[in-house]
Amino acid sequence: MMTDFTGKVAAVTGSSGIGLGAALHLARSGARVFLAGIDAGLNDEAAALAADEGLDITLHLVDVADENSVRSWAGQIAGETDMLHALVNAAGQQSYGTVEDTGPADWDHSMAVNLKSCYLTSHFLYALLKAAGGASVVHVASVQGHNNQNNVLAYATSKGAVHAMTRAMAVDCAKDGIRVNSISPGSIRTPLLEYGAGQLATGGKTVDDMIAEFGKSHPVGRVGTTEETGSLIAYLCSDAAGFISGTDLRIDGGLTAQLGV
Ligand SMILES: NC(=O)c1ccc[n+]([C@@H]2O[C@H](COP(=O)([O-])OP(=O)(O)OC[C@H]3O[C@@H](n4cnc5c(N)ncnc54)[C@H](O)[C@@H]3O)[C@@H](O)[C@H]2O)c1
Repeated sequence: MMTDFTGKVAAVTGSSGIGLGAALHLARSGARVFLAGIDAGLNDEAAALAADEGLDITLHLVDVADENSVRSWAGQIAGETDMLHALVNAAGQQSYGTVEDTGPADWDHSMAVNLKSCYLTSHFLYALLKAAGGASVVHVASVQGHNNQNNVLAYATSKGAVHAMTRAMAVDCAKDGIRVNSISPGSIRTPLLEYGAGQLATGGKTVDDMIAEFGKSHPVGRVGTTEETGSLIAYLCSDAAGFISGTDLRIDGGLTAQLGV
């Protein structure tokens, strides 16, 4: 579904995968987009893609886990626009480990990149969102915030906390015309999923083999695409979703609906 975002301004984190997919969808629908990523190479690739299509996407090098970096990004955006209609928090990192083998530094890093980042961007961009007189925040959580595999202690905890943060923000921000929701993807083909597939590939299996196997565990029989997550995010940012706030939408091909028996 394409909604018209002409004249609207969006800030998106994560310059590959789900973040890039959301930025492309919003920009193709007419939005001016500020896209933040920590990886200069990925930022350059995203900028080249946007230039090829003539899309209005400005890349900034930002560490979303770092207070000063996010404050500075908010300052750069405020120098370019006096309002923001959408904020999409898609930067994130997968980590593996149990309570026994996750060290304090790994725990802190997961919380900073997956959870604190959503607070920092929302906090420092709040004045611009408020100024729009009707804005939407979308946090990209995960099905692992609802139910989880083994060995994902910090990741699952951070995503469950994003769900709670979504509700808390929705209640507080409604008075300023800001709706807040999260999405919980199942497996979506992105560099992060490919990394996870590579970690699990054994016995001569390739990343493609593993991703096909991930797909089979989803009732629809395949993994999702960044076009599909981009479309859902754009819907949540649109006026068509004007009565949707404080909720989490699963985009998981039925993964969490099934019983494992
Ligand atoms: N792909 C999936 O199957 C899947 C499933 C559920 C949830 N998610 C979530 O979706 C979000 C996006 O993941 P993705 O699959 O698109 O992966 P991805 O690796 O393609 O994208 C994540 C992006 O975040 C950026 N990033 C990481 N740390 C950062 C930091 N400190 N500051 C700024 N940018 C940083 C990375 O450079 C990368 O561009 C993550 O929060 C992830 O947990 C993904």
